Amino acid sequence: MEKLAIEGGMPVRKTLLPYGRQWIDEEDIETVVQVLRSPWITTGPKIAEFEEAFAKLVGAKYAVAVSSGTAALHAAMYAIGIKPGDEVIVPAMTFAASANCVVFQGGTPVFVDVDPETLLIDPKQVKAKITPRTKAVIAVDYTGQPCDYDVLRSIADRHGLILVADACHALGATYKGRLVGSLADLNVFSFHPVKHITTGEGGMITTDNPDFAERMRIFRNHGITTDYRQREKQGSWFYEMVDLGYNYRITDIQCALGLSQLNKLPGWVKRRQEIAQKYNAAFAEFPAIRPLKVRADVSHAYHLYVVRLDLSQLRATRAEIFTALRAEGIGVNVHYIPVHLHPFYRERFGTGPGLCPVAEAAYEEIITLPLFPRMSDNDVEDVITAVRKVVSTYQK
Ligand SMILES: Cc1ncc(COP(=O)(O)O)c(C=O)c1O
Repeated sequence: MEKLAIEGGMPVRKTLLPYGRQWIDEEDIETVVQVLRSPWITTGPKIAEFEEAFAKLVGAKYAVAVSSGTAALHAAMYAIGIKPGDEVIVPAMTFAASANCVVFQGGTPVFVDVDPETLLIDPKQVKAKITPRTKAVIAVDYTGQPCDYDVLRSIADRHGLILVADACHALGATYKGRLVGSLADLNVFSFHPVKHITTGEGGMITTDNPDFAERMRIFRNHGITTDYRQREKQGSWFYEMVDLGYNYRITDIQCALGLSQLNKLPGWVKRRQEIAQKYNAAFAEFPAIRPLKVRADVSHAYHLYVVRLDLSQLRATRAEIFTALRAEGIGVNVHYIPVHLHPFYRERFGTGPGLCPVAEAAYEEIITLPLFPRMSDNDVEDVITAVRKVVSTYQK
């Protein structure tokens, strides 16, 4: 049975407002239709066009497009040669794919704790977990706030580690005026529908290293050195598979959509920031609601708007607040269950509670509110009204 809104009254919304959603307009549809009518719907010209536009936008030399953010992370781990016995440092507060990519290559993810105020990877914890087997650090720009890349870069350089940015949340963000996508040795993006731009499913890796870029191009195409279009141009049937790769190719249909979406990115990031400011201002009256800290040296891209609940001030658990907001028609979510608490990691790597106490404590208190550019001002007001209603009901 559906849970009733507070006091059994009318919910703030009749239909559920999701926490994230794509925005596809007629222009997007038209560009996709053009590709559908063209001779190349995959491995065609739109792939390089999207890659070049993306690399230019984030200030990187190379961009390699693949079929998902997860494939992009996997390709990054392949590019840097992660293999059994290697360790890669990963923050506990992230989506499972940030760590899974290490396991795909036979490596071991080493989970580190996060900063209590931003929930971003804590550089002090990174230093403490480095061993002679450590090969790389994956920094996750959780919610869309860039990590402290200068500090991470100096740690990586001192220990000969490769710095990878899982920037799946942070397209359009900046750190000390520099764009995300140009901050780490490899920078990974996702184009899932809830992200800043979408290709349905899709991903991208940016880098200034030509060897990494070349390795990833081969990796996404079965480990084969040329693709079908190149062979057609050369009038040749010959190809060689030089390593074990996957079919992680993205289609021209998706890249056409990505190119069209990219034009809208600046306006969408601005709208995300505007909504976040409205939330911050509205929730200031409730000390039980604590937005995550945003550092002064970043421009936050707000993929997610996450707040911590001060449960000592409420007569409800996080689960009860979550259920009450859902009953009001607000599609709240929780990002994330710390990765080291998932059964797979506990069983395979012996991780579990106590390993990353800051992330574990945060997990008990966090809740994600809807935030996406297409939200109307009325949608934003609905979220604020519902939060006000639920929190004032449960305030001690
Ligand atoms: C931090 C992070 N990394 C990686 C991914 C994986 O991206 P995709 O869903 O495109 O495979 C996600 C997706 O939600 C993510 O949030």
